[in-house]
Amino acid sequence: MKGSEMQANSTAVIGLQWGDEGKGKVVDFLSWSCDIVARFGGGSNAGHTIVINGEKFILRLLPSGIIRPNTTCYIGAGVACDPEVLESEISSLEKKGISVSRRLFVDHASHIVLPHHKDRDKSEESSRGSNAIDTTKRGIGPSYADRVSRIAIRITDLFEPETLRGKCETILKFNSACTENKSQLSPADVDHLVAYLEKFHSLFRNLTTDVTPLLMNAIENGRPVLFEGAQGSLLDVYYGTYPYTTSSHTTIGGLFTGLGLPPQYLGRVVGVVKSYMTRVGHGPFPTELKDNLGSMLREKGSEFGSVTGRPRRTGWLDLVALKRMARLNGVTHLALTKLDVLDGLGEIHVCEAYDIDGEDRRDLAPNHLDFFKARPIYTKLKGWTGSAANKTRMADLPTGAREYIEFIETKTEVPVGLVSTGNGREDTVLIGL
Ligand code: IMP
Repeated sequence: MKGSEMQANSTAVIGLQWGDEGKGKVVDFLSWSCDIVARFGGGSNAGHTIVINGEKFILRLLPSGIIRPNTTCYIGAGVACDPEVLESEISSLEKKGISVSRRLFVDHASHIVLPHHKDRDKSEESSRGSNAIDTTKRGIGPSYADRVSRIAIRITDLFEPETLRGKCETILKFNSACTENKSQLSPADVDHLVAYLEKFHSLFRNLTTDVTPLLMNAIENGRPVLFEGAQGSLLDVYYGTYPYTTSSHTTIGGLFTGLGLPPQYLGRVVGVVKSYMTRVGHGPFPTELKDNLGSMLREKGSEFGSVTGRPRRTGWLDLVALKRMARLNGVTHLALTKLDVLDGLGEIHVCEAYDIDGEDRRDLAPNHLDFFKARPIYTKLKGWTGSAANKTRMADLPTGAREYIEFIETKTEVPVGLVSTGNGREDTVLIGL
């Protein structure tokens, strides 16, 4: 079935805040009913944590569905692919007895993150001085910049020895002009890069494919497919808190460009939202808590980067930003995570408006300069006694926790389809997804 008659049996999972909302767990949970999981953007700057029977998996590049042995996983053209990370993730899974053979594929047009992109990321950060973004230093920004400059090396190029060398020369010349290393490029540098890339021939030979038609055929045949986003909507390079963003499209548009699909191939959009807010790296954060409460949320919620270990900044839920991102992504269901972290609080604050120079603003774009001046105007809700931790049924949640869920549903006008009450796959209240 094609075109307008199609009812796509596919689900996108998108983060609605600054990343680290718990998308990995939600994708893993939903992938039990999916044949295919496709990742559409970002790169090894991501760190998706999944805990299964007490065993922790942290995935940076591999789609979170890879942990389920019968799920086929695709890495789309929109992803920045670091071959070293890919190789090490595959081998660490294989050591745990999880084989990716014949069920992991990477699009031929995904671009490669090169060692000098990481060096450039570091020099760019130091040149920003006090305006540094605090990037993950994984070379993500410089690699996407090279892609937009039309000099990036893509996976398909690896298999064209004639042109690979020329592309290596161009990218090295371009990059040495952009870093502190202005020295003359030598043929040895080019030889070195070519040799580096050729090392990954065997890795990519059996992984590389044309992802778009495979996904189209699967969806046209009614197969359940999950699209996995990386980072969060407030880090989108266009619609997030620019320039304190990542370099890719983390909002829904990134799905269509990152996988080469038209809109009718998308069914539901699940927006993942943490019950409070966190952010790693610099940039505006109107509801940030710099006091003991903020530290308590960080400790109780284990809010430390899963890849970099950086402490995450913490704060109250920002409904203004959430409503904006729920609409921008066309979210059909919310997945509310870490509800148990709010257990025992006497009062919970939720930001329903910003004060901007004395003016009450209820709909401000996070990419507007005024966002830097936003001061939160809070609605105070009662907390709850009792615990939401590890609950699996709505009826078992404390009354105040259920009221918090209903409050978010009413304000966003989006139903909450799933609530996460702990790290484990089983710590989930499935309401309706
Ligand atoms: P980059 O993506 O490494 O360039 O970093 C740009 C900004 O996005 C920094 O503030 C990072 O901390 C943030 N960031 C990138 N990826 C993630 C993620 O997966 N979770 C949370 N923040 C992220």
